[in-house]
Amino acid sequence: MTPWNENMRAYAVAQPNIALVKYWGKRDTGINLPAAGSLSLTLDSLWTKMSVEFADEAEFDTLSVNGVPNSTMLERVAACLDRLLGASRPKATVGSESNFPIAAGLASSSSAFAALVMAATRAAGLGGDTLSLARLAGASSGSAARSFYEGIVELTAGDREIDLHCVAGASEWPLRIVIAVTESGPKATGSGEAMIRSAATSPFYRTWLERQDADLDAARTAVTDQDFDRLADVAERNCLKMHSVMWTCRPPVVYWNGATLNAMETVRALRREGVPVFFTIDAGPQVKAVCLPAACDKVAARLGATEGVRQVIVSGLGSGARLLDQD
Ligand code: DP6
Repeated sequence: MTPWNENMRAYAVAQPNIALVKYWGKRDTGINLPAAGSLSLTLDSLWTKMSVEFADEAEFDTLSVNGVPNSTMLERVAACLDRLLGASRPKATVGSESNFPIAAGLASSSSAFAALVMAATRAAGLGGDTLSLARLAGASSGSAARSFYEGIVELTAGDREIDLHCVAGASEWPLRIVIAVTESGPKATGSGEAMIRSAATSPFYRTWLERQDADLDAARTAVTDQDFDRLADVAERNCLKMHSVMWTCRPPVVYWNGATLNAMETVRALRREGVPVFFTIDAGPQVKAVCLPAACDKVAARLGATEGVRQVIVSGLGSGARLLDQD
């Protein structure tokens, strides 16, 4: 039996992260071990807050998202709690609140599972350093492990487990991210499912994995040297390679829409004008433009005026997952 917290309740917050060298592929689906490393930016203006309360008398787990009962994610949340505490744990009431659209390619699973693991382990009275909590979160959603760390984060994938470290703190190289939201509804194919399909059917998958270490080395060095142009080159290329793997699946996985292409073209045009900016796109149709702070207003204005872009969200680099005060 775990040493339960007195009131078996805890709260946590985590920020989503977006990858510049992508995680796309699993070495082991059973323990959700990534097939290769990745490098990401933890954001500061988007957040997910999670409350977890266990009750001995409760018969079922429940999940509400932004105040509305949610059955779609409940299974994954319950499986995460089972993994942390065993299947004979008390049932939980879980409440999640985010200030951005979920399951729409805005990395909501990274912040959600990071905050969930942080709150659930505290509610259960379990300890754990940052790396062990990150590993636990990664077993539920690979990208969630990175949200335990601030700023620019590298995840390395070993044969049995992952390792993580902060390559540059949030204030060390204060990059800005301008997200062009082109669609806010949930995506048709989840990233986990699309990765498994990629490994099974894309002729590019093996080559994609073979080149990941080289991209990771190039990106890490670019960050350490604060060489924006080199980071831009490796990140855009890595993103396009990942989407090429998806497009060559059977059946294909295409997350982009017309406005995605328009927003990419806006970023390319800005770059031709000498503006320090590059794009990346995850498992969804949103375009994330990464730029130096002085370029942020211009990038946001141009993306906001791009046909089909519904909203722009501006962010800096943020902190790792943390507990919130109990009420
Ligand atoms: C395209 O972390 O959502 O955003 O481990 O199956 O939950 P699961 O996958 P998830 O995948 C993220 C994929 C990506 C790239 C990235 O964040 O590195």
